[in-house]
Amino acid sequence: MTSTSNDSHELGNLDDLQDGEMRVFEDIGDYGIVVCRVNGELYAIEDNCSHADTPLSEGRLRSHNLTCPLHGTSFDVRTGEHSGPPAYEGVSCFRIQIDDGVAVALPSTDEKDPNTGFGGVGGIFQTR
Ligand code: FES
Repeated sequence: MTSTSNDSHELGNLDDLQDGEMRVFEDIGDYGIVVCRVNGELYAIEDNCSHADTPLSEGRLRSHNLTCPLHGTSFDVRTGEHSGPPAYEGVSCFRIQIDDGVAVALPSTDEKDPNTGFGGVGGIFQTR
């Protein structure tokens, strides 16, 4: 894997990643990312549950929902939004770029891009 700029990281060829499968890239971002293929599309979210620092890649991917193995909150791999408690917020979601190979772009700030919805932390779940 190669970093192509401050915020873009090449992931190589992911043609062998089948629907419903995940691949972890540990050295990207603060906690690594998990790339998931769902219905032929690739998605990337931070590989760390927002509740208690557990690798989401050890959980189960069903459709677009990746379920944390520890307490069961699921996260939408398209947005990083979470399904509810015990996690109280989503996880960062990153843009996949497909050109000659596959790359992932990390935002330069913690803010979600208002135009694309990528970056930052996915939807806050209101419990009250
Ligand atoms: S560590 Fe993921 S839901 Fe608790």
